[in-house]
Amino acid sequence: MSDGLEDVVAAHTTLSDVDGVAGRLVIRGRSLDDLAGRMAFEEMVTLMLGGLLPGLPEGAELQAVLGAARASVFPIVLRASLPAGLSPVEALRTWTALIPDGEDAGTAVTLLAAPAVFTAAAVRRARGLEPVAPEAGLSHAADTLRMLGGDRPSAAEAAALDAYLVTVADHGLNASTFAARVVASTRAGLVSAELAGISALKGPLHGGAPGPVIDMLDAIGEPGDARAWLEAALDRGERLMGFGHRVYRVRDPRADALKAALRRLGADSARLVLAEAVEQAALAILRERKPNRPLETNVEFYTALLLEALGFPPEAFTCVFAMGRTIGWLAHAQEQIAGGRLIRPQSVYVGPRPMQAA
Ligand code: ACO
Repeated sequence: MSDGLEDVVAAHTTLSDVDGVAGRLVIRGRSLDDLAGRMAFEEMVTLMLGGLLPGLPEGAELQAVLGAARASVFPIVLRASLPAGLSPVEALRTWTALIPDGEDAGTAVTLLAAPAVFTAAAVRRARGLEPVAPEAGLSHAADTLRMLGGDRPSAAEAAALDAYLVTVADHGLNASTFAARVVASTRAGLVSAELAGISALKGPLHGGAPGPVIDMLDAIGEPGDARAWLEAALDRGERLMGFGHRVYRVRDPRADALKAALRRLGADSARLVLAEAVEQAALAILRERKPNRPLETNVEFYTALLLEALGFPPEAFTCVFAMGRTIGWLAHAQEQIAGGRLIRPQSVYVGPRPMQAA
């Protein structure tokens, strides 16, 4: 048995390969460096799902179909009232559960489109604002930002969101993707697989970390205070959010892709200076304290800064992660369905046995 299934191989995939020693991410035969900042969400959908979902359109037709799908799910946020106090990711999960299940291309397109509508509506709901209806003719990234803020974004802002969504689209057999594959293997349908993915993603050890990164930066405040604050957090037994990874033993390549997107966006330079000071101090302290466990910057650290610069509040960062990762969840679900076998591992019973009759 392997604690946390570390190093256990549970699938063969043609989708992505995470090389944790070299710090490389390959997606469908291409390096992340060739993808992030160079293609839009729609093109990533085609790269990942092409050949896996018969009937999935490409190019301008895909953009139009996604736009129509955003419009088709918008009534859900108007009709389905939510209990007070739900976080944006809980709202995303609840509204997603109202989509009828299926394994066809139409269901997949709806699931690719829906998180943008639900995320923007959840953020606006938390701010006491009415949701903004989708504009079907826009690109997926541009319309997401428009539904969030009410105005059309600049081309640079839409490009930055595209860079983020492409960067996080897939990453081997991470916890949420594995959860999605397990559910898909039961043939429960793509909506059920998506719900499993969202549920696993929301934990702070997976996709729930970037919000706390912002809390950390805000609490530190000044670059000169980073070291003392980080030392105190570790002394309290806390983990530093945005650092460490199950697979990477070197820097997560997605961190650099997102930092480059942040620079292209021309984001607040004082914030970037603070973040770089915190990153350098954290890496130095972690090396001192955990000399035998390489703990490097992971994707969540610069995710926090990029999504903050685009106007998303920290409590919605996980929803935006889900927007991008839905591509990977669906591709893995389709691969699992095509492979055909139910995922059903064994456990070793270590509890008491019934008494033997004398
Ligand atoms: N800060 C401080 N110490 C850490 C950190 C961290 N961020 N991450 C790991 N460690 C320490 C642990 O305390 C442990 O020390 P010990 O052996 O002395 O007890 C050791 O490193 C190994 O930790 P594990 O929990 O076994 O490592 P695992 O591979 O299971 O965890 C994880 C990976 C969950 C990402 C972890 O590094 C972590 O909690 N990071 C902070 C949260 C975070 O950034 N999550 C986002 C991950 S990226 C993503 O999922 C998209």
